[in-house]
Amino acid sequence: MSDRATHWQNVYATKGEAEVSWFQDSPATSLAMIRAANPDHHAAIIDIGGGASRLVDALLQDGYRHLTVLDLSANALAATKRRIGAAASTVDWIVADATTWEPAESYDVWHDRAAFHFLTDPRDRAAYVERLRSAVAPGGHVIIATFAPDGPEKCSGLPVQRHDSASLAAELGPEFELVETRSEVHHTPWHSTQAFQFSRFRRHSQ
Ligand SMILES: C[S@@+](CC[C@H](N)C(=O)[O-])C[C@H]1O[C@@H](n2cnc3c(N)ncnc32)[C@H](O)[C@@H]1O
Repeated sequence: MSDRATHWQNVYATKGEAEVSWFQDSPATSLAMIRAANPDHHAAIIDIGGGASRLVDALLQDGYRHLTVLDLSANALAATKRRIGAAASTVDWIVADATTWEPAESYDVWHDRAAFHFLTDPRDRAAYVERLRSAVAPGGHVIIATFAPDGPEKCSGLPVQRHDSASLAAELGPEFELVETRSEVHHTPWHSTQAFQFSRFRRHSQ
């Protein structure tokens, strides 16, 4: 197992969902941006680094039916599956590193909250974007939430690369057009604050 996977397996083996700084009771901004990207409940949506996030619960509740959650940590996905119960059988679960995964399907919406920002090496970011480009359908949307330029320098004890919409646009390249960007102050379970940005891009239709 890579150092990266070991780190995340340990996190999810030792901490409950509300014991991690990134916990959200309700992933409202992600949900609003996914609805804006594609309100069709048959849209294929993937949550990259979904971890134990409640986003999949919210999307199922909303009526979305073609969902995939990818994460490095099998422990994280197991916790999510336990939480959502029988509905877990309707979701595709992928244990993989987003920088080396080989996508077998194409997606209408690619969502990532607080996974991409761990890629501090430009080669890893390029590998991630290569996967993204092979997985996101023409006309599809990419939503990436990261710590903002005035956000923390570390997350889960690991260094992060902070972003704004311009740095993300540069990573994705000209095929992806910025549609909207939102700032959000996240309140951690212990009441500190973290500045996030959420940017949504649309891939040009071919
Ligand atoms: C800070 S947590 C955010 C979890 C979730 N997106 C949320 O908003 O609650 C980062 C997640 O990304 C996953 N992760 C980190 N690097 C990854 C990578 N290279 N490939 C896939 N998942 C990764 C971790 O296992 C962890 O679940």
